[in-house]
Amino acid sequence: MPAVSPTPPDLRVPSSDTSTGFGHAKLILLGEHAVVYGQPALAAGIAAGVRCHVNPGQGNIRAPAWQMDVQVGDGAMVSQAVERLCERLGVPAKELDFWLEAEIPARAGLGSSAAMAVAIGQAVAARTGALPADVLAAATAAETVFHATPSGIDTAAALRGGVGRFDRATGWQPLPLHQPLDLCVGVSKQVRQTSDLVTGVARLCERVPVARRLIETLGQVACAGMEALASGDVEALAQEFNLAHGLLCGLGVSTRELDELVRAARTAGALGAKLTGAGGGGAVIALAQDRGEDVLK
Ligand code: PMV
Repeated sequence: MPAVSPTPPDLRVPSSDTSTGFGHAKLILLGEHAVVYGQPALAAGIAAGVRCHVNPGQGNIRAPAWQMDVQVGDGAMVSQAVERLCERLGVPAKELDFWLEAEIPARAGLGSSAAMAVAIGQAVAARTGALPADVLAAATAAETVFHATPSGIDTAAALRGGVGRFDRATGWQPLPLHQPLDLCVGVSKQVRQTSDLVTGVARLCERVPVARRLIETLGQVACAGMEALASGDVEALAQEFNLAHGLLCGLGVSTRELDELVRAARTAGALGAKLTGAGGGGAVIALAQDRGEDVLK
């Protein structure tokens, strides 16, 4: 007799016992990589992100948009992250099901793993009464599965949303926006692992100590960008984007495809453009102001 596989539960059917959470996708405007070394960074949690619905269940974790279907205990990175997160929040992950609605691509430099962790953390917190600080700590612990040494910027932006300054010592400080920023995002076809890029930068700094100066300069560029933002000087902010991209190239985290996307954005009229996130693929951002359509093309 052929084996009959059990019909997987339909996690999409909400019940009175469903709890829901949301995590913002993030864009690092300035300071990626340097933030791992304690430098300040400028980031934004955007409106798009990941929503999670949690029900009592058997540890199923599904995200159709990412073709992801894993289970607590199967050893997949996502399963390990969810286990770690739930453990920190004091609930057994294998007694819950997780249904994820993702509005962003995975592993593209947009903070998908942090958005997922925060969405799950918020949904679990809605059941247990955990505080936002507990959710942040648990989501950052989950991030260690994907990142060697997460600075915490992705989870802070995913939880808080809006524009903020982040450093490891003081965390997230919201920054007011005096005018809307017309930012374009271009996603490359290259997927990559953040931990590989972070480790690559660490090795470079060990082998070539002068590379540490690039890290410090990236922090200074982030501070200059924050000043530009505070005074509403979009052109100066765009110049900082261009400088940061050059410095990130120096750290070896850009790729030919990212450089081409940056060049195409500038040629189409963007005031400034740079890679965002860990690099090695992923995404670029461009400050387009009134040239958004041309830049996106
Ligand atoms: O994983 P990404 O591409 O969102 O990048 C995270 C930003 C880094 O500064 C490279 C790492 C970190 O933990 O801050």
